[in-house]
Amino acid sequence: MIPKKGMIKASDAFERIIHWWLAITCLLLIITGLGMMFHSFNFLGIPVGGLKNLKLIHNFTGILFIPALIFAILIWWKEAGIFKFPEDLEWIKCAGGYLWHVENPPETGKYNPGQKAFFLAVAGFGVLMVISGLIMWFPLSLPRALVSWMYPLHALGLLVIFPFFFIHLYLGTIGVPGSAQAIFTGYVTRSWAEKQCPKWLKEMEESGKLEVFGEEKGASH
Ligand code: HEM
Repeated sequence: MIPKKGMIKASDAFERIIHWWLAITCLLLIITGLGMMFHSFNFLGIPVGGLKNLKLIHNFTGILFIPALIFAILIWWKEAGIFKFPEDLEWIKCAGGYLWHVENPPETGKYNPGQKAFFLAVAGFGVLMVISGLIMWFPLSLPRALVSWMYPLHALGLLVIFPFFFIHLYLGTIGVPGSAQAIFTGYVTRSWAEKQCPKWLKEMEESGKLEVFGEEKGASH
């Protein structure tokens, strides 16, 4: 996957590092969490020497997840954390043309409302997972009733993030071909950008900020 001349820069190295840091820690948390949660997944503890070790891996991965989550929120909240009305509502009403045929789905910026919902779920429930996880790990002398609420809240977070992750994985790979390059090389094709984020593309071109592979910054047409 090497960018070709004319491809458009969609993410910088820092964004890509944070994405994979977040993704790897999140996946490890899901796998180790499932291993502790359900008897049928207890076998996941075998390669690491038992459930106690699985729990240790889970808890310390949780610590590594915290900075990734903070950086992810700082990087993406502006473009993926705020719904814009009425255009986002129009997009939601027709599901952006993803689920049934829509003649001309509304044009979107860098991230569409589906991606915004995913970001907000990761950000909101990610914070909930961190807080509830830390309280379960270090209950200190907090009221027992409060600590006992952390267990269902932690499980609720998994129920939200897990299905969203599969949708994200599908759309980031085979669902919308060409997307994965945005997060591996940082570059996407012009036709991908015209279809996936036409408003962002126009804004970047008009402001002269668009970076095109093999061309000088702002030299694109
Ligand atoms: C392991 C497989 C994964 C793949 C193939 C993947 C792929 C992608 C792609 C292609 C994008 C850019 C989308 C675009 O510019 O239109 C993206 C963005 C993003 N990814 Fe992932 N990702 C994966 C895992 C994860 C995980 C586990 C998380 C979170 C816990 C995550 C969180 C995000 C966020 C927050 C964004 C930016 C905003 C958004 O699209 O909502 N990704 N990912």
